[in-house]
Amino acid sequence: MQKIDFALIGAGNIGKVHARAIADIPDTRVAVVCDVVEQSARNLAEANGAAWTTDYRQAVARADVDVVCIGTPNGLHAEPAIAAAEAGKHLIVEKPLDVTLERADRIIAAAEKAGVKLTCVFPLRFMAGAPKAREAICQGRLGRLALADAYVKWYRTQEYYGSWHGTWKLEGGGALINPAIHSIDLLQWLAGPVETVFGRTATLAHRMEAEDTGSAVLTFRSGALGVIQGATSCWPGDPSRVELHGDKGTIALDEGRIVKWKLADAAPGEEEAMLNLEPNLGSASGSPVGFSYENHRRQFAAMVQAIREDGEPPILGAEARKALEIILAIYRSAQTGAVVRLPLA
Ligand SMILES: NC(=O)c1ccc[n+]([C@@H]2O[C@H](COP(=O)([O-])OP(=O)(O)OC[C@H]3O[C@@H](n4cnc5c(N)ncnc54)[C@H](O)[C@@H]3O)[C@@H](O)[C@H]2O)c1
Repeated sequence: MQKIDFALIGAGNIGKVHARAIADIPDTRVAVVCDVVEQSARNLAEANGAAWTTDYRQAVARADVDVVCIGTPNGLHAEPAIAAAEAGKHLIVEKPLDVTLERADRIIAAAEKAGVKLTCVFPLRFMAGAPKAREAICQGRLGRLALADAYVKWYRTQEYYGSWHGTWKLEGGGALINPAIHSIDLLQWLAGPVETVFGRTATLAHRMEAEDTGSAVLTFRSGALGVIQGATSCWPGDPSRVELHGDKGTIALDEGRIVKWKLADAAPGEEEAMLNLEPNLGSASGSPVGFSYENHRRQFAAMVQAIREDGEPPILGAEARKALEIILAIYRSAQTGAVVRLPLA
């Protein structure tokens, strides 16, 4: 088995999740941890028997590193990701790829040019129910898709918005681009391309630059209509929900787990089987650390397999860009008051 060694760039909340996920994948290890805060780099490195540095250039240049994981604030993804690609390392980049399409495209182009694999982390797609729902929709089992909605009514404290969160430069927005992006990605993966958005945003419960509350009306290319609601202003916070309704069926997922499976053509026992596919893996609805590392493990394991077998990794850059584009379209609509058509110019 080819050993796969990782560099973690960013040793915060998600860097720890990355280390935990890697620890459960056979024949992999964290070789080096990088954080601009020395103590953070040291602590996570020591816990994983890894080297540490405060300079991402040193981390990505190491000969013993195969994959670089980017877990820095949203607006600080492109520089280390591009440096890693140029050093010939495969890339696991946290969502969103970065805060603008231009920066996201530069990451995608750098990976293509270097011939390295790139995956962007969207853990909800790795819930067992997500591909089941997609298969049912693609097979036409919901009939004519009518409504496709994502609701992310979460809560974050004012302290959460004390550093980079909620700033345009480093988070790229607020509730929509950070917590809600998971469900927006799942929504577009299940319901297909979004054609237009009409959005409204507000900052209601926090002191921050960007929105803590957003709402948008969508039209899909299929003709279906939909709604996105994303917030960090709703205490105590509900599990994120994606709902799909057609004239022959309804599927709903909470945090990617099937909670409703009503299909007119369902076989006996199918509904119960779908509702019991897997346990509840938790939610970050009320706290940024309220979720399991398990879906990260699944995505990282799929990336490791793609590297070992020279296959296609899960969630390519072009795919990850779609949720970012929808969110940036909502922001543009909220700023201009106009309906915005995708793709964005
Ligand atoms: N997929 C998920 O479920 C999920 C969950 C949470 C966060 N995230 C994403 O992970 C990323 C990080 O979020 P977080 O919650 O871990 O934030 P965090 O603030 O807890 O951690 C970010 C870390 O990056 C470090 N850092 C900043 N600039 C750096 C640089 N140039 N080089 C090295 N380190 C640097 C900071 O010192 C900090 O320790 C964000 O993009 C976020 O959207 C994803």
